[in-house]
Amino acid sequence: MKKIQDAQIADKKILVRVDFNVPLLKNGEIEGDKRIREALPTIQYLLDNHVAKITLVSHLGKPDGKRDESLSLYPIANRLAKLLKNDVKFDNPADEYKISDKISLLENLRFNPGEEANDPKFAESLAHGQDVFVNDAFGTAHRAHASTEGVTKFLPSFAGLLIQKEVEKLSALLKDTEHPYTVILGGAKIADKLPVIKNLCSRADNFLIGGAISSTFLAARRHHLGKSLIDTEDLREANVVWQSLIDTPNRNLYLPKDIVMSISIEKPDDIQEVDVEELLQPAFEDYSAVDIGPNTIEQYQSIISDSKTVFWNGNMGISEVRSFANGTVEIAQALKELSQNNEVQIVIGGGDTVAEVEILGVESNDNIFLSTGGGATLEFLAGKVLPGLKALE
Ligand code: ADP
Ligand code: 3PG
Ligand code: MG
Repeated sequence: MKKIQDAQIADKKILVRVDFNVPLLKNGEIEGDKRIREALPTIQYLLDNHVAKITLVSHLGKPDGKRDESLSLYPIANRLAKLLKNDVKFDNPADEYKISDKISLLENLRFNPGEEANDPKFAESLAHGQDVFVNDAFGTAHRAHASTEGVTKFLPSFAGLLIQKEVEKLSALLKDTEHPYTVILGGAKIADKLPVIKNLCSRADNFLIGGAISSTFLAARRHHLGKSLIDTEDLREANVVWQSLIDTPNRNLYLPKDIVMSISIEKPDDIQEVDVEELLQPAFEDYSAVDIGPNTIEQYQSIISDSKTVFWNGNMGISEVRSFANGTVEIAQALKELSQNNEVQIVIGGGDTVAEVEILGVESNDNIFLSTGGGATLEFLAGKVLPGLKALE
């Protein structure tokens, strides 16, 4: 991978792809600015090396090739200016936000249909008037879009500091690691997670499963999950993966022993802590799984506390409803405690998951790395080729 440190950048105009696709609250405010903060080292590196101009580009959300003011980068430009301690004014709406004399941020790339279509004309228009392209959008590296892949055909292209750090930390999970090596997976879409289990099953010792994906695994094992969220089209594949792990010596796939069920998934309603054995009969047909249960939490915490290498992606329950966040919070707590022991390597990926450990005051350090990627992190660990990274080779 070609690195920014190898590029001739003094007095050059630099186009920088960042991933400012931050979570937004319903009122449009920024929920977490981690992805903006993580872009700062590359911006600072470019300034320290006396570039002439920095043009930042990013997407936000999925506006489907049309202008959508609720997905404008205006609030992000504001936050970036604050983080860089610049006091700037800009018009709203605009196509280019001036952050300082040297830095500007273009409006949401996905307002243009050429971005996701990887249209060479759009890529060329982004490259126009620029000297060098720096990609620092690790979170978008799994997309072959005009600003991640197409543009590299028009400019000398290099990886920024964030992409380099992400690749280094995630690659370590695919090499020789310290054991026990534990992979914790939860969240909602099992189709994104099964490839990770398959790729890591020759390396990791323990797979701890929670969240809606554990409902899919349990349903595949003939449990009755009532109204729980289940990926029905992936039941067969879930069963195949479960069986292959059971058949492999020294590999353990753990499903919850007990789960918390509720009539409503929006608020606690007739909460039941159910032993999964009870679900071999259709006894909770009006209920949904909303969290892992206390016995599961205890078992998972004990496995985590003995681990030397850990990867975690995906919440253990519907943690947006704080009454259903217990499993997620307890796993986050166990990882925080583990990270205080200095001979461990912990990587946490995914927007919702990283947000949970940040609430506990955990930040990246030598023992723990909070990845900025969601889908990109999963695809990297699934062993897939990420087009945004390949284009920098
Ligand atoms: P991340 O954002 O960390 O990558 P995901 O997007 O994969 O994580 O999963 C988080 C989502 O999974 C949350 O919105 C959460 O509500 C949902 N989820 C977790 N457990 C359940 C469950 N039992 N039923 C329904 N949704 C769930
Ligand atoms: C992400 O949030 O995973 C990245 O910003 C990519 O966004 P996308 O899934 O909309 O392509
Ligand atoms: Mg998510």
